[in-house]
Amino acid sequence: PIPVIIDCDTGVDDALALLFAVRHPGLDLRAVTCVAGNTDVDGVVHNTLTVLEQAGAPDIPVARGAERPLIEPARSARHVHGVDGMGDLGLPAPRRGRAAVDAVTLLYREILASPTPVTLIPTAPLTNIALLLRTHPEVTRNIERIVFMGGAVATGNATPVAEFNVWHDPEAAAILLGAGVPITMYGLDVFTRVVVPGADVRRLRASKEPGTRLAGELLAHRPSAPDPDGDDPAGGLGDAGAVCAVADPAGIGTRLLPVEVSLAPGPTRGQTIVDRRARHGESEIHHGAREQALVDVALEVDVDRYVKLYLETVERRHAT
Ligand code: BDR
Ligand code: CA
Repeated sequence: PIPVIIDCDTGVDDALALLFAVRHPGLDLRAVTCVAGNTDVDGVVHNTLTVLEQAGAPDIPVARGAERPLIEPARSARHVHGVDGMGDLGLPAPRRGRAAVDAVTLLYREILASPTPVTLIPTAPLTNIALLLRTHPEVTRNIERIVFMGGAVATGNATPVAEFNVWHDPEAAAILLGAGVPITMYGLDVFTRVVVPGADVRRLRASKEPGTRLAGELLAHRPSAPDPDGDDPAGGLGDAGAVCAVADPAGIGTRLLPVEVSLAPGPTRGQTIVDRRARHGESEIHHGAREQALVDVALEVDVDRYVKLYLETVERRHAT
């Protein structure tokens, strides 16, 4: 299996991502690190521990990370994810605590200890990842790839042009893009498209297995997703799609493109500027003075393939 670490702000759809990662036989979830985003970092730790317990994976280490972005004050998205940051589902409190070490230390240790290079999957503001890269730059030698949920080629959600995870900590996102490791951007352009039909959500919710049932409850709490069959509420996979992209990379269509984060104050702050200009006449493209990172940007997604993959995975009886 591929060794992976998820850095998250659980978060309804981060929880969907964790459930999937725990149950997919091709992934080995080595650790989970938490950062402020959808809710405050202590809420994120609490939610993450609960989800892993419900998923039948109570032993995966969970560490607490940054309380706020590198430069800006913390802000929450409670209007999207409920007061507890995870849909206010009334889940039980976790029975165990978090790791004794902080997120950056856990990331550093797990990455360097892994016998094969690790794939990092950030599904949250990129503060922990930026701090890791600045504190321990040597980790890049054992990182296979960073597949992050964030950014948008077209429309934003936090602002007209900026996606929440990048907008929340744009400086951190800029540090990620400069990491010098292969990066895949699973942005809003694909993120919003992968929606589980209402009939499947209903079946998951009726399951007797706690992890499967939780997946159904979480999907039912993503009402912003369009409803393809009209009857029951359909649910978007959200962040879980980025984990699908690690387990099954053939399900997305990417292009290697220059990407830059707008750090300017004002209406473009946090925008990911993706250069899609045709490259055959290289001399006709004006690059300006800046160096831009080349990123595999997801432009297409096979929706049916990822919905099927997600359902098959979370409905597995025996989690590994
Ligand atoms: C991202 O923002 C968060 O609210 C979601 O969990 C996702 O990671 C989408 O913009
Ligand atoms: Ca998230």
